[in-house]
Amino acid sequence: MNIGFKLNIYTAVTILLMACTDNQNSNTITYSKVDQTNKKVDSLIKIMTLKEKIGQMNQYNGFWDATGPVPEGGDAEKKYEHLKNGLVGSMLSVRGTKAVKAVQKIVVEESRLGIPLIIGFDVIHGYKTLSPIPLAEAASWDLEAIEKSAQVAADEASAAGINWTFAPMVDISRDPRWGRVMEGAGEDPYLGSKIATARVKGFQGDDLSAVNTIAACAKHFAAYGFSEAGKEYNTVDIGYSTLHNIVLPPFKAAVNADVKTLMNAFNEYDGVPATGNTYLLRDILKNKWDFKGFVISDWASIKEMVVWGYAKDRRDAAKLAAIAGSDMDMESHAYINELEQLVLDGIIDEAIIDEAVRRILTVKFELGLFDDPYRYCDEAREKDVINNPKHKDAVLDMAKKSIVLLKNENNLLPLNKKGMNLVLIGALADEDNSPLGSWRIASKDHTAVSVLEGMQQYEGNNLVYKKGADVSIGDTEFTNELKINTADKSDFKEAVDAASMADVVVMVLGEHGFQSGEGRSRTDIDLPGVQQELLEEVYKVNKNIVLVLNNGRPLTINWADEHIPAIVEAWQLGTQSGHAIAEVLYGDYNPSGKLPMTFPRNIGQIPIYYNHKNTGRPVSDTKNPNLVFWSHYSDSESTPLYPFGHGLSYTTFEYKNLKLDKDVYNSDENINITVDITNTGKVTGKEVVQLYIRDLAASISRPVKELKGFKLTELQAGETKTIHFILNKDGLGFYNNQGDFILEPGTFKIFVGGSSYTALDAQFELQ
Ligand code: NOJ
Repeated sequence: MNIGFKLNIYTAVTILLMACTDNQNSNTITYSKVDQTNKKVDSLIKIMTLKEKIGQMNQYNGFWDATGPVPEGGDAEKKYEHLKNGLVGSMLSVRGTKAVKAVQKIVVEESRLGIPLIIGFDVIHGYKTLSPIPLAEAASWDLEAIEKSAQVAADEASAAGINWTFAPMVDISRDPRWGRVMEGAGEDPYLGSKIATARVKGFQGDDLSAVNTIAACAKHFAAYGFSEAGKEYNTVDIGYSTLHNIVLPPFKAAVNADVKTLMNAFNEYDGVPATGNTYLLRDILKNKWDFKGFVISDWASIKEMVVWGYAKDRRDAAKLAAIAGSDMDMESHAYINELEQLVLDGIIDEAIIDEAVRRILTVKFELGLFDDPYRYCDEAREKDVINNPKHKDAVLDMAKKSIVLLKNENNLLPLNKKGMNLVLIGALADEDNSPLGSWRIASKDHTAVSVLEGMQQYEGNNLVYKKGADVSIGDTEFTNELKINTADKSDFKEAVDAASMADVVVMVLGEHGFQSGEGRSRTDIDLPGVQQELLEEVYKVNKNIVLVLNNGRPLTINWADEHIPAIVEAWQLGTQSGHAIAEVLYGDYNPSGKLPMTFPRNIGQIPIYYNHKNTGRPVSDTKNPNLVFWSHYSDSESTPLYPFGHGLSYTTFEYKNLKLDKDVYNSDENINITVDITNTGKVTGKEVVQLYIRDLAASISRPVKELKGFKLTELQAGETKTIHFILNKDGLGFYNNQGDFILEPGTFKIFVGGSSYTALDAQFELQ
């Protein structure tokens, strides 16, 4: 039997003996790969001391790149001792083959059992070559492209010694004040689930032991995206229906896609911190969903349970987290210091420790780390793979697919390629750093293609660049140094003068990449600083403005929507940002992105999302001033500025002939839906055809619309295609407040169109 274990000789011999003994007892049985791994893990656990087992549950940060508050006093010395003594199961933020090999060597060669480390890192949207931020990728609704993007990230990260990413973030959020919306897939559980699956598949591939795949981590379990008032790390207070129907589905999808790990959230749920939440971790994740991987805490989230006022002290926190089912401790130093005594005192059953260790070792075996702990440390591969030109092509493709055309009056876009005077304005237009976003810890600063550079590739026009106004940087990476928004208007005049002579003005405005992301919640999501004023000043002299937005979250751009003829949502698009934007502006790429998150008109509307409840007093005529006792605002429209799913193209599409194959269905029947879509414009274009349902009466009231299917399809000018959707009980059912999925008979409406403001509807009965 090849046990594939070449490490510490003592361990190897022991496992071999145990595995062989078992085999002799059952010589007619052939073991599956899973069984073999289980046997190896069991054998290893049997020879581990309690201390060594707890060591596997301990994760330390590397010696640089802290992505959370660094424990006071620093303890590099202690970390080294612990590595040598087999008291560390994982390191995070150690990167590069040399560094990874060095830490791996300490545990493999110096610790008693030589159990390799699993090396984690925040590979969020690429490693060195960066894709668009995840929210932008979600706007592509292109699952194949998203999977490919995660594959590229895994390829580069694995070549740098990393074998585990803390991604995808699958938190659903309805609050753009929360800076981390940039890291997720937006507001919808169906789209979020599809994207979670694509990302897990992209990172993990079909074979986790392949050298170019890495373990994924669905985070943050659970409900972190519902932090009250969008304030980072805040309390969460949502009901069970929202938990089960909105928050949990993407996690469930990730588990179904065999995600190897999950990460706790910083928030509490219903008064219990997620890290110590037995209901979430044991009842739902490990029992109901039968999750086989392991759960890592978030950075220091175990000891923060004391600060929450849930645990008395660090010992209590370690106890509560371990019992609840958190398997590995990221930088709380709680498990390594407290668990042994808790077991010796009989407060924690050693079986809980064994279970956690079993989960952790299983993933290490599956990654092939026991076959060769240095398998991700091949310097030649590192040189070859990182920044490989193929990756640039892949992230450029993803960047183009992520762009959303929000508005395009009088076909101001695409721009003519020749003979025009163009003026490009905005500090962000000349930015080679901001498009990399705030999660770029391995990538080199200032390596993005700026919009200016991208547009300079097109030489037929006269292009002039003027900064106009600076953009604030916000919290810089990993410091709390808040840069005050600049109020400097001294460059306005030059920009306005230049704009007055232009045929078309392209203005790149929005947020700097460091203004969204973790720890970057905002109470004002207008264009930061004096950018709005600049926009209005330029508009006074030239109305032919194309506004290109750079941002990590929906912004409130009501004025721009009322006045500016063309608006392009270009997020933070990563390394190839400027090339992608220029190709879209010049029409070499016809945009097809759709918003994964609603754009509010003003901050007071938040949370605003398409799949809301009807209320008992819905307003049908939103503009009627005589309505008082109805669900509305008296000082603002209730509708969003741009709804979920919205996005235009340089061509137009018409939807017709929505048909169901029957009027009445049994609960186990497929519902076949067809719709015709025609490209009614002059150029080839892609459209995301969206299917929504509404369950008109149910034991728990259902949203006015729920996305249940989408198809990305390309049509030549004049072409018509029939799109086919199948709905079944998975799409028509919902979770009750006990978390059970149920299907109820009744009347359902369906809606089809190019956004959540759908074009066509029909109805059927389910009996
Ligand atoms: C805290 C973040 O919440 C989490 O998403 C991240 O993976 C860890 N820090 C590690 O950097």
